[in-house]
Amino acid sequence: MHLAIIGGTGLSQIDGIDDVRHQMVSTPFGEPSGPVTIGRLQGCDVVFLPRHGYNHRIPPHQINYRANLWALRELEVSRILAVAAVGGIHPDMGPGSLVVPDQLIDYTWGRPSTYYEGSLEAVTHVDFTYPYADSLRQAFLEAGAALGLPMLDGGTYGATQGPRLETAAEIRRLERDGCDVVGMTGMPEAVLAREAGIEYASLNVVANWAAGVHDGETVSMAEIERTLSKSMRGVRQVLKQILSAEDRQRGGSASC
Ligand code: HPA
Repeated sequence: MHLAIIGGTGLSQIDGIDDVRHQMVSTPFGEPSGPVTIGRLQGCDVVFLPRHGYNHRIPPHQINYRANLWALRELEVSRILAVAAVGGIHPDMGPGSLVVPDQLIDYTWGRPSTYYEGSLEAVTHVDFTYPYADSLRQAFLEAGAALGLPMLDGGTYGATQGPRLETAAEIRRLERDGCDVVGMTGMPEAVLAREAGIEYASLNVVANWAAGVHDGETVSMAEIERTLSKSMRGVRQVLKQILSAEDRQRGGSASC
């Protein structure tokens, strides 16, 4: 059973993966975002998939989330560490912050978001009370602590449709609803992982203040790119730290 990393904007590649091979997995739902990268990182078997594709060409609403999660399940992935760029709504979650959310609200629409449809033997409703796996949330937080990299423990992720950014009024509404950060890819990724029986947690990298949080300011793509390219260095360290901690715990056996 393997561990997978799903990379978001700013994390389309991970360096340092050894014994690399790339594998295209076809699924009943079509093609995933690209071939998965399979290899070893810090002594552990790892599977890597960039959700927007290797050239960052697939926009959030056109990602084939069902194929992505199905492909990982086919590869016997049992745990997913996801990384996702977000806008910050909560005053403590400004650009450059790292947040490990514990809740989400889904505002997306029209995305195929379940495996349980078509000709079914029985109607199925998965439990989704706690959308993120606590053990993986703790793995992010412990890695942050070990590296001296501050992370915010908990918060509500609001998943919007995109690809446009939000209006100031939409962000005020999300804030009233209790959202702390906003992103475009957290759903249906999290629920499909749950339906596929894969543990899942997400590390949110705050790239910008969400629209209208600071009166009169607009969101700048240049700022988003600058912040992400700075923050991803830390994120890469966090992922490596998690895998080396796993490697130590397992006494060097490859399957982490
Ligand atoms: N809104 C939605 N998604 C995002 C943002 C944002 O402000 N920043 C990065 N991803």
